[in-house]
Amino acid sequence: MKAKDIHAAMARDWNERAHEDPFLYTTTGANNDQYWASGEAMAEDLVRALGLTPTSRVLDYGCGVGRLAIPLSRRCNVTAVDISATMLKKARAAASARASGVVAFKRITKPPKVPVSDASVDAVVEVMALQHIPFAVMPKVLAEMVRVLKPRGFLIIKAASDDGDLLGRARDRDDDGNTWTARTYSLEEYEAILAPLGMAMVSTITFGDRTQVMFQKDVT
Ligand SMILES: C[S@@+](CC[C@H](N)C(=O)[O-])C[C@H]1O[C@@H](n2cnc3c(N)ncnc32)[C@H](O)[C@@H]1O
Repeated sequence: MKAKDIHAAMARDWNERAHEDPFLYTTTGANNDQYWASGEAMAEDLVRALGLTPTSRVLDYGCGVGRLAIPLSRRCNVTAVDISATMLKKARAAASARASGVVAFKRITKPPKVPVSDASVDAVVEVMALQHIPFAVMPKVLAEMVRVLKPRGFLIIKAASDDGDLLGRARDRDDDGNTWTARTYSLEEYEAILAPLGMAMVSTITFGDRTQVMFQKDVT
């Protein structure tokens, strides 16, 4: 499948999922209270681990209905992007209904282009979003995440795998643009794309119930 067809499929499929039941496709079995509590815990831990302040700027990539973006917005400046207009509509409604700071919810209308200025955010974080992105378009998606980071900014992404082996190979990479498969890309695969963009892996980071890898820009 061509890159432009994969991007179109991602927007179409995620709109359908969001329309059907956005929580079904994001909660992994949690009930509503557990879902929002998980975002609260992630936000709390991210702020502590990264030393975020109210003026820090964070991009939540693939924000869904705002599980992380909404609680994080009470602690710093948040821009939350998603490819699905329907997810974003539900995220805005959730932000109005819940205790939220100001979140700039923005749709990725011309994927992979992220509607955020160059070198403008201190950290980019994704939660359960990259795992759905086919490998064929991953280099350009990651390049966009790097583009918006300030020098020395952090990129926090999920690398393989379920058994903790970060060097394990990605599963299901050649599945012709399927937009649902939960793939697990390895650290090696990310490094092959990110090192030429000036990103180095600096640590792992645990926030809420997730452990992800943290890359930093321009540290070498
Ligand atoms: C499993 S949901 C996770 C949502 C949210 N991060 C959370 O943890 O609740 C995956 C999200 O990624 C979004 N997404 C999928 N492909 C994307 C892409 N190429 N660019 C941006 N967002 C994408 C989907 O629309 C969906 O909201």
